Amino acid sequence: MHFSRAGRESLPLSCVVTPTDLPEMPFIVELRPIEQQLRIAREERLVSEQASNRELIRNLAHEIKNPLGGLRGSAQLLERELDKAELRDYTQVIIKEADRLQALMDRLLTPHRAPRVGPVNIHEVLERVRSLVLAEFSEGITIRRDYDPSLPDLIADKEQLIQVVLNVGRNAAQALAGRGPGTRGTITFRTRAARQITIVRQRHRLALELQVIDDGPGIPEGIRERIFSPLVSGREGGSGVGLSLAQTFVQYHQGVIECDSRPGRTEFTILLPIT
Ligand SMILES: Nc1ncnc2c1ncn2[C@@H]1O[C@H](COP(=O)(O)OP(=O)(O)OP(=O)(O)O)[C@@H](O)[C@H]1O
Ligand SMILES: [Mg+2]
Repeated sequence: MHFSRAGRESLPLSCVVTPTDLPEMPFIVELRPIEQQLRIAREERLVSEQASNRELIRNLAHEIKNPLGGLRGSAQLLERELDKAELRDYTQVIIKEADRLQALMDRLLTPHRAPRVGPVNIHEVLERVRSLVLAEFSEGITIRRDYDPSLPDLIADKEQLIQVVLNVGRNAAQALAGRGPGTRGTITFRTRAARQITIVRQRHRLALELQVIDDGPGIPEGIRERIFSPLVSGREGGSGVGLSLAQTFVQYHQGVIECDSRPGRTEFTILLPIT
């Protein structure tokens, strides 16, 4: 159906009727702009794509991890037998690279520890991340807070939420720092309540909307659609694990994370249900 607006073009709407178990309100009729409908479809597609990607990466990470120990151990044994110090440079390369790969595989495999949930104040999480990011990127970065102090606690895994916001916040700081010395950049941490919202086909009365916004160069166009996939990175020395981990943790909490980016403004939005 179309909603006619005076002086503007009409807005295409979709109509969804959901039965409830409330006697005073037997069903909900929702009129949503089609655009929002597309967003929901995209979220669902992303979730299922990510699940199969994750499975593949996990299996692969296991396969790589297993022989790594043997490789490293053998290089160490070999090193003990070598008389010439120059030759030890080679075994050191093997050992160092094996360690680097091992660390990467561990990061790819970590999300599978059981979550430890409890009441979490999101602003404590944000303050913690803020100080971590400012300690790491002391120059040229301002982190602005735009909090809704009336938000209730989430029931969540605090460590995972810190990891999520830290990964997103560090990316923003890295993008800003990458512009070189003498430039200033601003990151904004914004929290709001979102009411009556659908997240991946699930209706929630109340959700937290958390945004991390930066005024940096934006996500390189070539990877914009794939940044949540593991091992996709646009950064020198980046491993491309940060956002895929963030997404895994957000999904554990029945939430979604999405991104909107153009040069001058990059916005990550995380929606987490508050129960
Ligand atoms: N705020 C941002 N501004 C510009 N580019 C970004 C931003 N956030 C993410 N990106 C791009 O998305 C890529 C993927 O990010 P992700 O955190 O998954 O991996 P990474 O930062 O490269 O490596 P890791 O987090 O594992 O150290 C980044 O390499 C960067 O190119
Ligand atoms: Mg990162």
